[in-house]
Amino acid sequence: MSSADIHYLPEQPAHDAEIERINEEAFGPGRFTRAAYKIREGGPHERALSFVAVHRESVIASVRMTWIAAGKGRALLLGPLAVRPTFKSIGIGRKLVHVAVEAAREAGAGAVLLVGDAPYYGPLGFEMISHGRIAMPRPVDPNRLLAVELQPGAVARLEGDVTHAALATKI
Ligand SMILES: CC(C)(COP(=O)(O)OP(=O)(O)OC[C@H]1O[C@@H](n2cnc3c(N)ncnc32)[C@H](O)[C@@H]1OP(=O)(O)O)[C@@H](O)C(=O)NCCC(=O)NCCS
Repeated sequence: MSSADIHYLPEQPAHDAEIERINEEAFGPGRFTRAAYKIREGGPHERALSFVAVHRESVIASVRMTWIAAGKGRALLLGPLAVRPTFKSIGIGRKLVHVAVEAAREAGAGAVLLVGDAPYYGPLGFEMISHGRIAMPRPVDPNRLLAVELQPGAVARLEGDVTHAALATKI
């Protein structure tokens, strides 16, 4: 397989069933108990900023983005990110993160937040958020709360409880 055979496309409703299967395979039933999942339950993800990797007309990886609010701050929550096992470690995950972050930047988002492993996301520009600044709806290891700032001051505006943006009071 050559990386030229892999295409990165904005997510479409027709991809939903395959994305669900990829997330099931990657995270199992435990995915429903995650803090990020709880936030995503609050409303829809932003399909225009979510992407799939396609190989021979099959979805082999997915990244989703969801608008969130925390205090006066607004940002995108990145995740879930998952790659089918036979396609791992050839750069697809990194590419999807890059594509999603650049799309967020073009959409005018101030920051992209995620819960994930710093050794993976650090080289992609993500940094740890100051401990205690924001609170997820379920416990998370604070060392795994990471963000990339796209507009100056956007991360500092994130404060307190993180919710789906649709649930935040208008400011
Ligand atoms: C994590 C995941 C998305 C990475 O996707 P991928 O396409 O395999 O990753 P890439 O090819 O971009 O990068 C591979 C590199 O990242 C490293 N890596 C993978 N997961 C990592 C992790 N959790 N922490 C640190 N490094 C990691 C690999 O060892 C590899 O290193 P190398 O380039 O030195 O060989 C994929 O393994 C996956 O779907 N995992 C299950 C779901 C998951 O954990 N998602 C992330 C939730 S935060």
